[in-house]
Amino acid sequence: MSFLRSNHPRCDHTPAWAALQAHYQANGRSFDARQAFAVDALRFNTLSQDAPHVFADLSKNRVDATTEGLLRDLARQCGLEAHRAAMFDGTAINTTENREVWHVLLRKPAEAQAQASSNATEKIAIEVAKVHATLDAMLAYAEAVRADRAITDVVNIGIGGSDLGPQMAVLALDAFATSGKRLHFVSNVDGHELAATLKHLKFESTLFLIASKTFTTIETMTNARSAKAWFIAQGGTDTARHFAALTTNVAAANAFGITTTFGFWDWVGGRYSLWSAIGLPLAVAIGAQGFREFLAGAYAMDEHFRTAPLEANLPVRLGLLDVWYRNFHGFTSRSIAPYHSALKRYPAYLQQLEMESNGKQMDTDGRPLPYATSPALWGEPGTNGQHAYFQMLHQGTDVVPVEFVAVKKARHDLPGHHPMLLANVLAQAQALVVGKSDTGGHKNFPGNRPSTFLLLDDLTPASLGALIALQEHRVFVSGSIWGINSFDQWGVELGKVLAKDIEPRLASGDAAGLDGSTAGLLGRLRA
Ligand code: F6P
Repeated sequence: MSFLRSNHPRCDHTPAWAALQAHYQANGRSFDARQAFAVDALRFNTLSQDAPHVFADLSKNRVDATTEGLLRDLARQCGLEAHRAAMFDGTAINTTENREVWHVLLRKPAEAQAQASSNATEKIAIEVAKVHATLDAMLAYAEAVRADRAITDVVNIGIGGSDLGPQMAVLALDAFATSGKRLHFVSNVDGHELAATLKHLKFESTLFLIASKTFTTIETMTNARSAKAWFIAQGGTDTARHFAALTTNVAAANAFGITTTFGFWDWVGGRYSLWSAIGLPLAVAIGAQGFREFLAGAYAMDEHFRTAPLEANLPVRLGLLDVWYRNFHGFTSRSIAPYHSALKRYPAYLQQLEMESNGKQMDTDGRPLPYATSPALWGEPGTNGQHAYFQMLHQGTDVVPVEFVAVKKARHDLPGHHPMLLANVLAQAQALVVGKSDTGGHKNFPGNRPSTFLLLDDLTPASLGALIALQEHRVFVSGSIWGINSFDQWGVELGKVLAKDIEPRLASGDAAGLDGSTAGLLGRLRA
């Protein structure tokens, strides 16, 4: 099935959008989840669901069956199902870069048949074969590194999608790390970061992974050059053994002097690349089998997203809820609250995933949009967030939907901690929705503050894979409704260009043509 955006109306031109506006005026604005629970004994059941590895409770949100029904109408009228099929089929839905959006192929098992709906069976089979050849080679290398006792430290040099994904996942799956290697992540061009890492390393026991889809990103290239210079200055000669590159630009990696390379393809967006060779640090940490389980968890979520009916499709329900909150309630942000310290980089990872994907103001044809798109995402692991910004979530003037993640099973045996952690996450979600009346005012909690609760039985490679794929697909859903291209990122280009212009000015002092503030700051920095 081919997908043409022009075959579908823009979301705000659909009958469903008008119906949602009317519904918002009549019921949405005044919706109180407490009353909804009081009148509907089955609310928890109807607004919660199991998806692969993830149970989700949506019942504390400002939605009911009518809202969800209208949102599904919106999805159908905007062509969500055709758009989803187009992604899985490999239509070039990343139109500004004329690329397929095919990260789902990275977790497709070699033996899986192309999906029944696909009209691109042959093309998919060819790409899946390439994926598995590279995956096998990458995992064999990961196992060799794990077995190599002379290598004690692995340093991933990369930024954005070439850092956030592997770093988040390595931390999240620390309980499964069996390699005995220390993994380090250097992303920032700020030399403090690389210097602080290098000072603990010995060149002869360090492996550098240069992770960059393009192999041109200035931060990564600068850090890679400095790492190589350090390695040589320390007496290192065998760069073939101590450097590997994870990139689509193998020629550039070779030109840099790296001969061990693991490739991927243009159709993998940077923020969707954790499943490719970019996942090598994770494979080193948890081993080939663990990495395959991670892919399998994601694949299970892919199949859920691809095949489950919209009303029982968790990425669809979450993505539509995001649209409801952003465009009808006008909520501007979502707070991410993982109640698991190993998920400490999960909010940062989601920031790139959602805000770089959906922080757009043009439709796919380059026409300005009259409605809001990506919310801001922010958060910290619980319970730390409770002692920082939860005050604002409970009593501030803005309503911020919260998305909790909790994990039933603990992977430590310290008595008392886990029940306390779980009691806290339940209590926060409860306090947000139930609130508390107090005549004194200051102790009044308005309540009816929405939250979603994602629950994993255990934080494993498979459940993490499913959770991340869930997030990828919900971002697809909201981006699809908004009619934007969720897969380009032109908004990060201008700053890169300007930095190149400014850098020599720091040395020369030339402020010609600069705005007054930048010129003033340049002067201060040179003084
Ligand atoms: O920040 C822009 C961006 O292009 C991201 O999308 C990407 O993840 C990151 O830079 C790193 O790019 P690369 O992997 O090509 O170095």
